[in-house]
Amino acid sequence: MTVVPANDQAIAEAASRLRAGGLVAFPTETVYGLGADATQGRAVAAVFAAKGRPQFNPLIVHVADVEVARRLGVFDPLAEKLAAAFWPGPLTLVVRRAENCAVAELATAGLETIALRVPAHPVANALLRAAVVPVAAPSANRSGHVSATRAAHVLADFGSDIATILDGGSAEVGLESTVVDATGAKPALLRLGAVTAEQIADVCGIVPDRAFDGGAHPASPGQLLSHYAPRAAVRLNASSVGQGEGLLAFGAARLATAGPVFNLSASGNLGEAAANLFAGLRSLDATGVAVIAAMPIPQIGLGEAINDRLSRAARR
Ligand code: TXA
Ligand code: MG
Repeated sequence: MTVVPANDQAIAEAASRLRAGGLVAFPTETVYGLGADATQGRAVAAVFAAKGRPQFNPLIVHVADVEVARRLGVFDPLAEKLAAAFWPGPLTLVVRRAENCAVAELATAGLETIALRVPAHPVANALLRAAVVPVAAPSANRSGHVSATRAAHVLADFGSDIATILDGGSAEVGLESTVVDATGAKPALLRLGAVTAEQIADVCGIVPDRAFDGGAHPASPGQLLSHYAPRAAVRLNASSVGQGEGLLAFGAARLATAGPVFNLSASGNLGEAAANLFAGLRSLDATGVAVIAAMPIPQIGLGEAINDRLSRAARR
């Protein structure tokens, strides 16, 4: 793993690494991000694996400008107004996913919405232009650690787990972006950050709703969102398939069934399974089965996050 000064050549190399499915840590004006090509589910899965996240939270998708953002999300007048006022900059807009949005479902945790941001940092912007693909990037810290504002922090958290850390000095703002839900008539603040509620109110002419707990610590993001929830009931640790059940398979073992089957990864690869999880739930749901029988997934690495997601789906 290497920390490299973010010159033109390093940025070009990092961009090809991203397109090849690799991970790149890069500076933004808020904090460092741990980026992957948002259109590749396997690359996004590798971000979750590196972060050690206990569950699949939706990630912010970074793009070079608002034109690219409009191809991925639906921009209502409210979103347009906020983008015009604060992009490039430390504001993340949650909008509906565009119909032909190329972003992997794992990056948006199976939601109908997508969080988009155009960062202002010149290195981030140059990287996004060179990469061409949209870049899903959570803050570049291990889950539960504080966000990284210097390349050295990223190195300390990830050691040899990521190939490239672009060093662009210290992040100016040092606080994550403000997250605003712009899908409704009124803006709703999902996370406080560098752009203030007052600035948003000034631009929109409406005081934003506050969709977090209002205290010093925003509510955990998972509480704010309802992830994709299958209509079908989910039965965990299935070792056989009942009449009328759909099978969410994992690995090479074949369970006897005449019903629909979706294999998350026939080779038993957890990264592939993570990348396919939401598509699998969705496609079995679409067959109309009442129950999705899920084969056991090993509780290691990304398996933990997959099992967390499945057990939430099963508890409803
Ligand atoms: O400043 C930042 O925002 C940094 C830099 C790297 O851009 N990124 C960052 O990402 O803080 P992360 O993954 O640590 O935080 C993403 C936030 C979470 O609170 C998540 O719940 C929210 O964005 N989010 C993402 N997609 C969402 C969606 N579709 N709906 C609602 N909230 C969403
Ligand atoms: Mg974070």
